[in-house]
Amino acid sequence: MGIVFFVSVLLLAVTSSVNSCPPSDRAALLAFKAALNESYLGIFNSWKGTDCCNNWYGVHCDPTVHRVADLTLRGESEDPIFEKAGRTGYMTGTISPAICKLNRLTNLIIADWKGITGPVPACITSIPYLRVLDLIGNKLSGSIPSGIGKLKHLTVLNVADNQITGRIPASIVNLATLMHLDLRNNRITGEIPSDFGKLRMLSRALLSRNQIYGPIPSSISKIYRLADLDLSMNQISGTIPESIGRMPVLSTLNLDGNKISGEIPTSLLSGSGLNILNLSRNLLEGYIPDAFGPRSYFTALDLSFNNLRGPIPKSITSAAYIGHMDLSHNHLCGRIPSGAPFDHLEAASFVNNDCLCGSPLKPC
Ligand SMILES: *[C@@H]1O[C@H](CO)[C@@H](O)[C@H](O)[C@H]1NC(C)=O
Ligand SMILES: *[C@@H]1O[C@H](CO)[C@@H](O)[C@H](O)[C@H]1NC(C)=O
Repeated sequence: MGIVFFVSVLLLAVTSSVNSCPPSDRAALLAFKAALNESYLGIFNSWKGTDCCNNWYGVHCDPTVHRVADLTLRGESEDPIFEKAGRTGYMTGTISPAICKLNRLTNLIIADWKGITGPVPACITSIPYLRVLDLIGNKLSGSIPSGIGKLKHLTVLNVADNQITGRIPASIVNLATLMHLDLRNNRITGEIPSDFGKLRMLSRALLSRNQIYGPIPSSISKIYRLADLDLSMNQISGTIPESIGRMPVLSTLNLDGNKISGEIPTSLLSGSGLNILNLSRNLLEGYIPDAFGPRSYFTALDLSFNNLRGPIPKSITSAAYIGHMDLSHNHLCGRIPSGAPFDHLEAASFVNNDCLCGSPLKPC
């Protein structure tokens, strides 16, 4: 009798704690929902009853602490809800600061809703365990919270495709575990912090299509895990640090559409591991370094729309591979070398230079 009673009490305790959603988390979620309007898919229709840990769309709780740990709301995904609605998601409203009361969140993903406006709540920097902050594809404005560097566990910061203004906060360099930074396609201004190289875990830094100016900080070349650096379509000036060409795993470097001047560092061409190099539409000058070698392997090499002069370097025929190449719209002169990679390139890769000749252009 005593044992049966004990077991039933235990069972009751276990069931209720498994199903429990703290009233404070539930209240925070409901306040978050109240600031939004999603009328095409009905994702919030499941947000009812007391147990937010049980079948609330996009909400997941930590089974040990029974707190909301993930909030994942994607406006574009494979979820059957989209197939049923026959369309992608659209949501208006704002991200309520009530979200910050979910202080056991590790993943906060509110992505591709196209119509969510207002700022990224500054209090987000006080969610201590946050690992993934992904707000891509909305209409968020205001700046990245200045205290972002407080998020000691952050591995992904993605606010791409919004209308974010202001500068990259200085504190960003304190994100010691950040692996993926995506700020593309916003209205971010100011310089890249000179100590950006403190982000030692970073493997992708995507800052293209903003209004970032100033130099490429040479400290970037200390990020030895960096594989993908995209600074294209900004107002970046100054020269390309030679040390960038010696980064061990950098494979994509997009600097196109800036105001970068000076010469192309030899290290970028000699077989640094770079596979995609786009320096198009800058103010680069001087000769293309005669530095290609058997370790040069480019799927894309775009040097078009600069002020490069002199001949196409002879060593280029010793490159292991060059797929797409564009040298057009420069001031190059002389005979186009024959042999790989030139046998598969079209005239468009060479047009609008001063006096290039030979196949695929006119004979010399
Ligand atoms: C919510 O959005 C729908 C569709 O855009 C609109 O018709 C409706 O008026 C909005 N409701 C509120 C409360 O904003
Ligand atoms: C390089 O950048 C330019 C300008 O942004 C772009 O038009 C071009 O397609 C890019 N080249 C390659 C090979 O992606």
